[in-house]
Amino acid sequence: MIWPAIVFLRAFCTANQPEEMLYLQAGYFIEHFTVPLDHINGDPGLISIKTLLHIGDPNGPLFVYTGNEGPIEDFFYIAGWLVYTLGPYYNATVAFIEHRYYGDSIPNPLNYAYLNTDQALLDYAQIIMQLKPSESTPVVVFGGSYGGMLSAYFRIKFPHLIDGAIASSGPVLEYLDKEGIGIMYQTTQDYFDVYPNCAFNINDGFNILDNFAQNSYTWNGLSSIFQTCTPITSSSQVLALEDWISNALETMAQYNYPYPAQVMGYLPAFPVNVSCSIIGVYSTPVKNMWRTLQGLAKVAALVYNSTGTASCYNPWDNSTNQAMLSWGYQICTELMIPEGSYGVPYDMFPSRPYDFVSFNASCYQTYGVYPNPEWYPINYGFTPFYVNSLKNLSNVVFSWGSEDPWQTGCLKEAPNNNVRVIRINGGAHLLDLRRPNRNDPQSVINARNSEQSLIEQWIGWSG
Ligand SMILES: *[C@@H]1O[C@H](CO)[C@@H](O)[C@H](O)[C@H]1NC(C)=O
Ligand SMILES: *[C@@H]1O[C@H](CO)[C@@H](O)[C@H](O)[C@H]1NC(C)=O
Ligand SMILES: *[C@@H]1O[C@H](CO)[C@@H](O)[C@H](O)[C@H]1NC(C)=O
Ligand SMILES: *[C@@H]1O[C@H](CO)[C@@H](O)[C@H](O)[C@H]1NC(C)=O
Ligand SMILES: *[C@@H]1O[C@H](CO)[C@@H](O)[C@H](O)[C@H]1NC(C)=O
Ligand SMILES: *[C@@H]1O[C@H](CO)[C@@H](O)[C@H](O)[C@H]1NC(C)=O
Repeated sequence: MIWPAIVFLRAFCTANQPEEMLYLQAGYFIEHFTVPLDHINGDPGLISIKTLLHIGDPNGPLFVYTGNEGPIEDFFYIAGWLVYTLGPYYNATVAFIEHRYYGDSIPNPLNYAYLNTDQALLDYAQIIMQLKPSESTPVVVFGGSYGGMLSAYFRIKFPHLIDGAIASSGPVLEYLDKEGIGIMYQTTQDYFDVYPNCAFNINDGFNILDNFAQNSYTWNGLSSIFQTCTPITSSSQVLALEDWISNALETMAQYNYPYPAQVMGYLPAFPVNVSCSIIGVYSTPVKNMWRTLQGLAKVAALVYNSTGTASCYNPWDNSTNQAMLSWGYQICTELMIPEGSYGVPYDMFPSRPYDFVSFNASCYQTYGVYPNPEWYPINYGFTPFYVNSLKNLSNVVFSWGSEDPWQTGCLKEAPNNNVRVIRINGGAHLLDLRRPNRNDPQSVINARNSEQSLIEQWIGWSG
């Protein structure tokens, strides 16, 4: 199972029907741009790229969101700061461009050979050229997570086409964490910070599950506590149940926003704190194995039954969708995103070391390709010595949240004074890109203010 793919994508797997229409209310419409499937050699035909577009003042700037690994509507919904604050304030033309091979921008026939970041950047470049009302229109690109990696890559490759880039929570250096320790380490830290026993009690729960996996007489009880749609009949299903719980815990750390948010359905404000209060109730005053597991089941339900409509769960469901297949291809070729868990003292999760050799083999089995770890640092300059390789980069903001599990791969030091790294203290994944909220911490208000004043410098705006 390629579960890094699921981790990166999980926020975007559930489409929220009513939200999909929000772009109409915000004055956006859908436009399809037809571009070459192969920008470099030109021959195998065309691909249609979906874009959510708002036409602004012809004298205003052009703001572009470089779409990530999912339907573009998902990122439109996340990037509320761009949609509701910056766009209207600067009378900007704003385009959310879908990433090729995701959402509705799937080539026909489907041939993965043209799925790579270079081709995606060329889609954005060509669409930007078409959207600029005039040669002198200033352009700023925005992106978060993988989209943030892309917005930074865009400025690196095409400094002549845009004036600056905001790269929020983009784990451009994640591949350097070769054993994939960082993501689950930071997740654990988030639970530990609420109170240390929260992380230890969760770890107890995983130890109990490891043990129960070997004892089939516990499986009926487990099936009933975790409300599985079909009864557990093998130890590998108990291990899949562990992964399913780990996924929920990581999701809540990633989206530990200070207000209720529509990600993966509906998460409460501070879902990590809420989880820890549930764990607390189930693990005191006396510890009992089944009570500890009931606590974990309640916590997992925050994610998997947030809409209250789940009648039972399929933790070992391994069905895939197109976005997962496309992302799987990308992490099997140029993008390395190692992710594992190692147990105490590294993290609170069951031991699932990242195994490059079997990952490499599964890539060949699924797609007929092998990962190419050399290409990425050469292509964009995000080497361990990026301070040198990117010494001439300018006008990029790299922001990162101090509580975000993905901070492992975020830039912490700017290569020069024309690039800014902004730490958002207490911030979760993508917090600065989200629509301002009255519960925002001062750190994200400051981050947005700094970003906005840099954008004004880049676009030559004097208010
Ligand atoms: C946006 O347009 C309105 C109306 O044309 C104008 O009053 C305002 O100054 C413009 N804002 C900016 C930032 O240019
Ligand atoms: C949630 O936990 C964090 C510790 O990580 C703490 O700083 C914060 O105040 C808590 N929030 C609430 C609402 O309890
Ligand atoms: C999901 O939540 C609803 C409403 O709280 C509840 O009735 C239902 O039993 C829950 N589903 C599962 C599988 O626990
Ligand atoms: C999915 O799970 C089923 C049942 O556990 C298994 O038979 C099948 O091979 C799995 N498929 C993949 C793609 O792993
Ligand atoms: C992946 O496996 C293939 C075939 O065994 C091997 O040639 C290749 O070197 C492996 N890739 C890496 C990066 O180790
Ligand atoms: C590139 O960076 C170096 C070192 O900071 C500096 O001396 C040089 O002037 C820069 N070149 C350009 C074209 O900006």
